[in-house]
Amino acid sequence: MTTASQAFSSELHGICIAGMGGSAIAGQMAKALLAQKAQVPLITWRDYELPRCVTKDWAVICVSYSGNTEETLSAFESAKKVGSVLFIVTTGGEILEQSKDLPVALLPKGIQPRAALPVIFSIALPIVETLIGVGSTDFPRLSVILDGLVKRWGDEIMSPRSLAERISSPIPLFIGSGHLISVAYRAKCQINENAKTVAFSAELPEANHNEIEASYMYQEHGIVPIFLRSTHESKRMSARFEATDAVYRQSDCPPVHIRLSGLSELEEVLAITHYLDTLSVDAADIRGVDSVRVDKIAELKRRLAEGS
Ligand code: F6R
Repeated sequence: MTTASQAFSSELHGICIAGMGGSAIAGQMAKALLAQKAQVPLITWRDYELPRCVTKDWAVICVSYSGNTEETLSAFESAKKVGSVLFIVTTGGEILEQSKDLPVALLPKGIQPRAALPVIFSIALPIVETLIGVGSTDFPRLSVILDGLVKRWGDEIMSPRSLAERISSPIPLFIGSGHLISVAYRAKCQINENAKTVAFSAELPEANHNEIEASYMYQEHGIVPIFLRSTHESKRMSARFEATDAVYRQSDCPPVHIRLSGLSELEEVLAITHYLDTLSVDAADIRGVDSVRVDKIAELKRRLAEGS
């Protein structure tokens, strides 16, 4: 028997998740987890107009917490123009105004977009799972697992607070591979936005072909490499992490390895994100900065709005 989602997915030519910053990360995580299972391209878009390959046969999920982010609005308009199958995830704003008769998932108001990641993810992931016709995630079970993991902090891995103390003045460089690349990027952004300080992210294997040449400067610049390890890494990838560790150690910048055992890929994404999100708020506290306000993002949006 063909299910509705199978029938639908066989007609789809692709899926695009559009959004910026804190509203984009859920899509990047969904892509990291599901792109290889999908029979059609699953892309994320963090820019203005969508690429021309996105047609009426594509599903486009537009995520904007405020509903007023100009890049996402522009992507939304291009999807509307070509007649793509649209899904909107927002609290309101211009995108909601323009979404009469479209399926809209309304987010709770009053938090920062980046703090809405759990709710955005719990909306975006099932949409993509349905569109590509794979089984759906059991979120209530998942939240029980994640709650239990907090007890392992400070035991299996150092507590987020201890790691935050170690990296609050140096510069963290989060390095992930596979599904943890999106987590490394999220961690960098959370340090930027919550702790208001410099952080970088990179991915393996790519960083072995360029960044590694700069590692002899890490100590001088106070850069601490933080390796996000997965228990699902291939043997080759594990060997790569270990060899990279050895090269960095020669320059006196031993990497910190973060790894949690016994988890699925999805659980690793969420558990390590939760750990590093907590670390970023601890880092804000240690640095004496307000982890919530993002005045410069707001100012930039104001300047762009005044100029238009
Ligand atoms: C602020 C934040 C930002 C916003 C971004 C897009 O907490 O995380 O990265 O998410 O400026 O704005 P929205 O999410 O309203 O489309």
